Amino acid sequence: MKFYSVPVVEREESGRYTVLRYRWPGPVEPGQFVMARAAGCPATLDPFLARPFSFYDYDGEWASLLFEVRGRGTALLDAARKIEVSAPLGRGFRVEPSSERAVLLGGGVGVAPLKILGRRLEELGVSHDVFVGFADGATAAAASDFPGAGVATMDGSVGTHGTVLDAVPDLGSYATVYACGPNPMLAAVKRAVGEGELCQLSVEERMGCGNGSCNGCVVPVLGGGYVRSCVEGPVFSAEALAW
Ligand SMILES: Cc1cc2nc3c(=O)[nH]c(=O)nc-3n(C[C@H](O)[C@H](O)[C@H](O)COP(=O)(O)OP(=O)(O)OC[C@H]3O[C@@H](n4cnc5c(N)ncnc54)[C@H](O)[C@@H]3O)c2cc1C
Ligand code: FES
Repeated sequence: MKFYSVPVVEREESGRYTVLRYRWPGPVEPGQFVMARAAGCPATLDPFLARPFSFYDYDGEWASLLFEVRGRGTALLDAARKIEVSAPLGRGFRVEPSSERAVLLGGGVGVAPLKILGRRLEELGVSHDVFVGFADGATAAAASDFPGAGVATMDGSVGTHGTVLDAVPDLGSYATVYACGPNPMLAAVKRAVGEGELCQLSVEERMGCGNGSCNGCVVPVLGGGYVRSCVEGPVFSAEALAW
């Protein structure tokens, strides 16, 4: 897998999350991801593996990542002035022009791919609503980057008290549902989606290689067996997943 070294041009905080911007030639499809690590890691082998992140936004010149510091890999990335990225990876959201309304649902850092997805839907003239759910007020600060979005927090400090699904008045009124977040949230979205609605889910499996060679990221599929979420995903049709 080829990594490109890119300077971080801008770093900003979005509540408890970090947004990094860097120049990137593209193309990028909404829902595709990048394997990223702080520059210098191959020499130090710390950490040994790059980490997967959704493209948060891409305007044809500038790419950005939105992430939460969880462990060693993200802590180093948060402090990096130069990062190494391999991208674009995986299969993103399937988006087509449509006169029917779509809904975008994000949970926690799973809101990341909704920004670039919303941009694409705008370009295609697809009207859509966005709902984002967070644990608390500190993480919900990231909602400010989604003007007009419905917000839910688990502690009730901002918006609707509950999950992102609690904030959606009528899920059945949308023809297409796009969602990204922790797998239990995605499973709940799949259960809540009505017949006739198209539903695409971006799964958050842990990844080792990001290029299909380690089988560390598999998800169970209907009919039996597993597929690799880094190559066949991370976006899957909800009905294909055996959840
Ligand atoms: C396709 C894809 C897109 C992603 N996009 C984003 C994004 O846009 N922004 C973002 O902040 N994160 C995203 N993630 C999750 C991100 O990759 C992990 O948070 C990151 O790898 C943690 O690395 P670390 O070294 O800091 O933590 P580690 O030390 O590796 O782990 C710290 C803690 O985080 C948990 N963790 C690690 N990876 C995951 C994971 N994939 N899912 C759930 N829990 C995990 C571990 O179980 C552990 O408890 C994405 C994951 C995938 C698969
Ligand atoms: S992360 Fe290695 S096969 Fe998917």
